[in-house]
Formats: sequence, structure tokens, C-alpha cells
Amino acid sequence: MKDFLVVKGNIIYTKDFGCYEIYKSGYIVVEGKKVIGVYKELDEKYQNCHLIDYGDNLIIPGFVDLHVHAPQYPNIGLGLDKELMPWLEAYTFPEESKFHDIDYASKVYSRFIHDLWLQGTTRVCVFGTIHKNSTAKLMDLFNEAGLGAYVGKVNMDRNSPDYLIETTEKSLQDTESLIVEYHDKYDLVKPIITPRFIPSCTIELLKGLGSLADKYRIPIQSHLCENFGEISFVKELHPHANNYAGLYNETSLFGNQPTVMAHCVLVDEEEIELMKEKQVFVAHSPNSNCNLSSGIAPIRRLITRGIQVGLGSDVSGGHSLSMLKVMINCHQVSNLKWVYSDRIDKPLTTPEVFYLATKAGGKFFGEVGSFEAGYDFDALVIDDSLLPQFKVLSLEERLQKFIYTGDDRNIKVRYVAGKEIKEPKIL
Ligand code: GUN
Ligand code: FE
Repeated sequence: MKDFLVVKGNIIYTKDFGCYEIYKSGYIVVEGKKVIGVYKELDEKYQNCHLIDYGDNLIIPGFVDLHVHAPQYPNIGLGLDKELMPWLEAYTFPEESKFHDIDYASKVYSRFIHDLWLQGTTRVCVFGTIHKNSTAKLMDLFNEAGLGAYVGKVNMDRNSPDYLIETTEKSLQDTESLIVEYHDKYDLVKPIITPRFIPSCTIELLKGLGSLADKYRIPIQSHLCENFGEISFVKELHPHANNYAGLYNETSLFGNQPTVMAHCVLVDEEEIELMKEKQVFVAHSPNSNCNLSSGIAPIRRLITRGIQVGLGSDVSGGHSLSMLKVMINCHQVSNLKWVYSDRIDKPLTTPEVFYLATKAGGKFFGEVGSFEAGYDFDALVIDDSLLPQFKVLSLEERLQKFIYTGDDRNIKVRYVAGKEIKEPKIL
């Protein structure tokens, strides 16, 4: 019986979009990495198992960040009065070029991972830089910390500054050698194919990456239809292409393997159809979309059309690693979208936004982001007792108050795949 772990507390998660499952003083039974079940009463057979009682605290699934750039962490909060393309030139590319230096990379990446842990993010899809060794280091550090991550070496072989560009051949070689070394090395940390975006990748490179994705069955992440300036550059580069998404699709980088595309603010009807057909995930990153003047992604419409949408912090286009802040902004922009789109796209509700930050993003990692039987036990224990409360609140209200007014200080314990994760080292 000692193989089971039982955690007790006020359990809240979402099984279906927009519907909380709530167990006041309930029990989650965990065996190894996985949830066995959630119960109102504890069955006899678990009575002698190791039980941790979290009292009146809330127990919720860990947060999933579907889109973030680790090497941009030093730039967090900088340059956000610029639009995407000038911001990349002035801030992002110079900072990313520093990651040829593995010592600098270790310093930044260890702090980045520490801060993800602090904010209660348990799974991430993360961009590194073009540099092979520091991207390998990023994977090693995630594994040491115990967080779950898809980690991508970024590919860039055109329209990039001399100090941050690779040849097509080297880009493909380095990507393949990281895949070979890492695809089976760690349980929770895996490589992901990561062309930066169409402007910085030749068709030859994209085709090579598509072949690698298919050969090794590796997932794919990139950016799609983020910003007007970017899209007009893609049109200039590929005047005969049907649309932006089609360029990824033609090169086997659009859903032949699991794929997540950041932003999708300005996707057209044909692209939406293709995303649905190829089951491409969207990483909605509202903080970044506001900061870089990209716009408001049509999230309600995408979800209604059957597209999987998770949330991304997109640091440092986004200014915070906190998925709480991303959730709040997701809510706010969905309210504004409703007002400014002839009140067609209904605003999201709090349980809907919570679902996006947990189960919807978690699907990219398998059975992650919920407490249903068979899911990996990724969880946060939330002590909200010091948030201002002057009346009795329901558990839904307590969660809502935590999302809007809480922060990392309320997160007391973090679990990933059944294991409690202690504070990672900063190098
Ligand atoms: N498009 C291409 N590169 C980037 C990046 O680093 N951040 C964002 N937000 N968009 C991009
Ligand atoms: Fe991004």
C-alpha cells in the first residue's frame, strides 16, 4: 500500500471547458506519477497510505505555459513601447546572441527555471536560441529542476543579423544532433523543432526541419500571424503563397507531428480551417499581443471552431512569467474583443480561462492539466488565507480571488508527475 500517495484539501480542476469539478475537503489518490482518482470520501483500501493533509488550502493543477523564450528573460520588461519587428532588432536579437556563451546561458537559464517554478508553472514549451550547447544546457537544467518542458533550439538562416544567423546546413545538423542526444534522455524534458518564424527561415531549412520532425516524430513550435508588420514581410517574401500557415504546411511543419503555433492573432478563414484539420494548437499570449501592438486573437471563435487553445506568457514579448497575470489579461482582452467586434465573440468566463491555463495547454504534453484518472499528478497547493476576505466565499470565488489578487507567495507546494518539486538552484 505504500506506493499510493493521498493528498487532502479543497480540490478544484476543470474536466470540461468552463466547468469546475470541486471537492471540498476531498482526496486525490496518486500512484507513482499518475492520478488514480479524486474522492469525497477515502476508500478503506487507502486508509493506511501516506496521506498529506493540506487543510483548508486549495489544490489545483499546475499551470502550463505553451509559449516562452528562455533567453529573453534578461530583457523582461524592456522595449515594450516598440512593435514586434523593431523590438526584435533592437532588443531580442542582441540579447539572444549572448547565448553562444554557455556560462552566461547557465546563469540566465537557471534563474529562468527557478522563476517558472516560483510562479507555479509546471510544464512549458520553450524557445532557446540558435546555439546548440546552451540549448542542451537548458534541457539539462529543466531535468535537474524536475519541471516538464519541450525545449527548442531555434533555427534562423535568413533575414537575421550577422551575429545571430546560421547556415542552413549547420542549422539542420545541430538540430538533428540535439534530437539524437535528447529525445530519449529524459522523461519530462524533450526536444521540439523550432523554426523561429517564416521571415527568418529559408524554404530549404523549413523542408529539412519538416523531414527531421517526421523522421524522429518530434513536435513543432513556431510563431504564426502575430503582427501586421510581420505578415506584410511574409507576403513580400512569398508573394505567391496562399497564406502564412500554408508555408509551414507545405514543409511538413503544420500538424503532421503535434504542433503549437504562438499568437494566431491575424489568421484568415483558410488558415483556421487548416489548423482545425491538422489539429494545430494555438498558444494565446495576450500580454505579448498587447505589448507589441499585435492585436487581440479571436480566441472564442477559434475554440468554437474546434481548435485547441492554451496560454503562453511569451516572455519577453510578454512582461511576466506568471500564468495568473496571463489569465487575467486573457480575460480582459476577451471582454474588449466582445465590445469591439460587434458583441459577437462572447467573453471568456473564469472557469474557461482556468481550463486554458491547465487542461487545454496540458493536452500538448499528453494527459496533463487535470486530476482525472490517468493524468500526471501536476499540482499546486494554494494558501489564500491572507488575501483580503471579509465574508464566506465559495471555493470558486476563492480560486477567482487567487487568480486576480494572489501571486507566488500563495503557492506553498508544487508537484510535477507525482513528485514534490523543491526550489531549483540558481547558478
Ligand atoms: N516572432 C519571431 N520571433 C519572435 C519572438 O522572439 N517573440 C515574439 N513575440 N514573436 C516573434
Ligand atoms: Fe514568441
